[in-house]
Amino acid sequence: MSSAPPDPSLDVAVLPDYEALSRAAAERVAAYVRAALATQDAFALALAGGSTPRGLYERLARTSLPWDRIHLYWGDERVVPHDHPKSNVRLVRETLLDGLDLPATNVHPMPTTGAPDDAAAAYADTLQRAFADRAHTFDLALLGMGEDGHTASLFPEHEPSPSDSRWVRAVSAPPRHDIARRLTCTLPVFNRARRALVLVSGASKRDTVRAALQERDARLPITHVHPQDRLVWLLDEAAAPPDAAQNDDRPHSA
Ligand code: 6PG
Repeated sequence: MSSAPPDPSLDVAVLPDYEALSRAAAERVAAYVRAALATQDAFALALAGGSTPRGLYERLARTSLPWDRIHLYWGDERVVPHDHPKSNVRLVRETLLDGLDLPATNVHPMPTTGAPDDAAAAYADTLQRAFADRAHTFDLALLGMGEDGHTASLFPEHEPSPSDSRWVRAVSAPPRHDIARRLTCTLPVFNRARRALVLVSGASKRDTVRAALQERDARLPITHVHPQDRLVWLLDEAAAPPDAAQNDDRPHSA
């Protein structure tokens, strides 16, 4: 098994439980947003799907932030209607957007109508136009991780490349996953983000966390996430292998 090199800009914090994990995540997101908007006009936040970020989104909906200067993007999506129970847009609408007064022009969902390849190309165009005149893509990418080491909809079987020329891909999730047809940003898009915040909760993921963080298993897509400035993993104790914590768990300034 080949192992990826250690990441000097890696922070790993272990929180007692899911509530504490969601709280720490909301504190960090708010701190990053406030610090960045002290020196730039807008903040580009990429959202994760799945169940783990739900608590974070609910807390962000109650957090006072200059939302009119925050643009929301999606790191991946299931190719279902946006009101479908498994849609990542629906997740965010129910837990975050419905509680906020955010201009619709700040919300950039992945299109899920039409041919998936066309939808992927359309979203790549949206991102390329949004980030055309800057060195990085998202200011912060929120990511989760599956027990198989996938992140966004980058699955081990697809061997996602850190030098993929595409910004967004239409993929088919392996049969063990509920919704097959997916759209996902590629590794280079996440690795051109300034920061990434990976949220992992639950004992079923502990072995994969160990493989990614301690054994740097290169077969796992999550192992290849290396944003430009800072990579932060927030784990709850159930998901944390021994000696997982690295560096401190206080929010970092920009
Ligand atoms: C998605 C996500 C995906 C998710 C993991 C973990 O659209 O499903 O982006 O990558 O983060 O599957 O999902 P849970 O948080 O539900 O365990």
